Amino acid sequence: MRKLSSTLLILLSSLSLSAQADVATAQKLADKYAAIAQHIDPQSPGLSAEEGQAFFTRELTIKGKQVACASCHTSNPADSGKHIVTGKPIRPLSPVTNDKRFGSVEKVEKNFTKHCNDIIGRDCTAQEKGNFIAYLLTTGK
Ligand code: HEC
Repeated sequence: MRKLSSTLLILLSSLSLSAQADVATAQKLADKYAAIAQHIDPQSPGLSAEEGQAFFTRELTIKGKQVACASCHTSNPADSGKHIVTGKPIRPLSPVTNDKRFGSVEKVEKNFTKHCNDIIGRDCTAQEKGNFIAYLLTTGK
């Protein structure tokens, strides 16, 4: 596992994202995750926006509550969300409607790790992250 995440970091750090995040940089990040997924599993079918959407809306039981990514980020990632516990507003996740998204690989990785652990109890795979970004790129058009 340690070996895997360092490979991931090396691959990700070779990505030079511009300070100004936009759809193109989110696409680059998705492509990078796709390449990593392929590297881990040569049978990987490539990214799937449908899988990404299923992942986003899938409900899991956490401490007796039904929670999905969509619980805080709403069922449409192009819309503003709201934290289910604190009630604080969350800016849209979609890079299509929020050009501040996916500007920093470190921040994206940190958020993925935290949220994936919170919701599914482990970090997400490169395939899941790539699918998720592929899905975000289809929203808000
Ligand atoms: C309990 C509420 C909550 C849930 C559930 C949740 N998130 Fe988040 N998410 C947040 C908050 C709060 C932020 C940070 C505020 C911000 O970036 O606007 C955030 C930010 C993010 C970001 C940051 C994007 C960037 O610009 O770096 C990603 C990616 C993300 N969430 C993905 C997910 C995924 C995938 C799931 C489901 C596995 C999920 N979130 C579930 C509340 C939540």
